[in-house]
Amino acid sequence: MTEPRQRSLLTVQDTEAFGRELAAELSAGDLVVLDGPLGAGKTALTRGIAEGLGVQGRVSSPTFIIARQHRAGARASGEPVALVHVDAYRLGGDLADLDALDLDTELTEAVVVVEWGRGVVEHLTERHLHVRLSRAADSEVRTAIWEWVR
Ligand SMILES: Nc1ncnc2c1ncn2[C@@H]1O[C@H](COP(=O)(O)OP(=O)(O)OP(=O)(O)O)[C@@H](O)[C@H]1O
Ligand SMILES: [Mg+2]
Repeated sequence: MTEPRQRSLLTVQDTEAFGRELAAELSAGDLVVLDGPLGAGKTALTRGIAEGLGVQGRVSSPTFIIARQHRAGARASGEPVALVHVDAYRLGGDLADLDALDLDTELTEAVVVVEWGRGVVEHLTERHLHVRLSRAADSEVRTAIWEWVR
């Protein structure tokens, strides 16, 4: 659909700023699949996306619950939209249906960001934004590669 884009993220602040930028191309019904190892910065990136979308509440790792919902708030540009932040780490494979998460938010009304979502949630939408974060050993630098995939 698009060429993969790539960027170096030198600090956690860079990763959050990248998330704010990504948010500008997201709207209701969009699915973002975050891929990358433990500590790669998936939650940090989600924090930036949440800031860019202007949603309410603080983003944290959904450790004990699988999904966290953030209500729409004031957005700098674009229609206000809710955020559903899912951690699929403990889902253990395929998620047949996001209904299984028992969310109050309609997915068509939210941006859905799924950590560890690769191979689990892609079938839920016609297209998704795939973001892969990788980390170098012994440094804070992360590399993001992202593209819209059908
Ligand atoms: N360039 C960077 N981008 C993102 N995080 C960074 C960077 N440099 C250092 N960090 C640190 O790495 C950690 C990333 O943690 P984060 O919870 O975002 O990762 P994660 O991919 O969500 O991990 P998990 O797989 O456990 O959910 C944070 O402590 C953050 O401060
Ligand atoms: Mg995380």
